Amino acid sequence: MKNTQKTVWVTGASSGLGLHTAMALRDDGWQVIAGARSFTGGQKDGMTCLPLDVTDENSVRDFCRRAQEIAPPDALVQCAGMLVLGSCEETSVEEFHRVMDTNYLGMVRMNREVLPMMRAAGEGKIVLFSSINGLLGIPFQSAYTASKHAIEGYAECLALEVKPFGIQVMLVEPGDHRSGSEKYRPHAASMTDESPYAAAYESATARIHHDESNGSDPDVLGRKIARILDRKRIPFRKRIASVDQHMAVYVHRFLGARINGAILEKYYIRTENGSKQKEGGTEGK
Ligand SMILES: NC(=O)c1ccc[n+]([C@@H]2O[C@H](COP(=O)([O-])OP(=O)(O)OC[C@H]3O[C@@H](n4cnc5c(N)ncnc54)[C@H](OP(=O)(O)O)[C@@H]3O)[C@@H](O)[C@H]2O)c1
Repeated sequence: MKNTQKTVWVTGASSGLGLHTAMALRDDGWQVIAGARSFTGGQKDGMTCLPLDVTDENSVRDFCRRAQEIAPPDALVQCAGMLVLGSCEETSVEEFHRVMDTNYLGMVRMNREVLPMMRAAGEGKIVLFSSINGLLGIPFQSAYTASKHAIEGYAECLALEVKPFGIQVMLVEPGDHRSGSEKYRPHAASMTDESPYAAAYESATARIHHDESNGSDPDVLGRKIARILDRKRIPFRKRIASVDQHMAVYVHRFLGARINGAILEKYYIRTENGSKQKEGGTEGK
């Protein structure tokens, strides 16, 4: 009898939204091959977990070879990601590079390996995790925001190129979800109490932390993606966010930079002197 079970490869599946999405797909009957740096190989919770570092070309090739031996992907879901919190001025080039290498170039590396397999099959679905920050910027997340904007632009090009081969692309744009692990959100090494941005930084990072820990349910997001991947045709964009965050995208797009900037400044930067710094210090970052 022909095996009709579909296979999905999921990157960044050891925690957060990647893990929740992988589990939802597994529960929906997919064979899941999960990748992350902390995996050592073998079965876990009904999924095959293989080591994968998306910043390392050899690791990407090795993962794809091993996964293909099990089953080529009907779908690839790319969730591997990280951010560095810090001011544009004090985030180092190395830190910018690390975020870009993981979030954006990691996807590029994976797609370069997987596209020939999907072209050969004449079909396939590629899901790229962007963010609301792929559409608008907030203070002290510039490296992350830039990487997610890069993904948005890249995905538009990719979708046009691969459509004739029966391959569909979907951008997932999550708002805040209470899933992310703090270890993937380090503070830039140069952000100290002495930073000229210290007060605004403290205010903005407290807000970011609050919004994420009170964010939406990651299980719901996982199940939504599993439902969409079951369809024959998938949308190019799927925003999964609170009403407030949908509104923020609307304001950003239609009300112009001045109004948008004023709203974001009021929301994120609550210091005694507005954004003009700094009374007292920040906690050890
Ligand atoms: N949580 C949210 O509110 C939110 C909002 C918008 C967008 N997103 C996006 O959703 C995705 C998941 O984020 P999250 O916050 O839910 O999860 P997370 O807890 O931050 O987990 C990040 C995942 O990426 C993996 N990873 C990191 N660097 C990697 C590398 N070099 N190679 C392979 N895997 C790597 C980690 O596993 P290992 O350490 O084991 O490698 C982990 O599984 C990201 O793309 C993020 O930008 C999240």
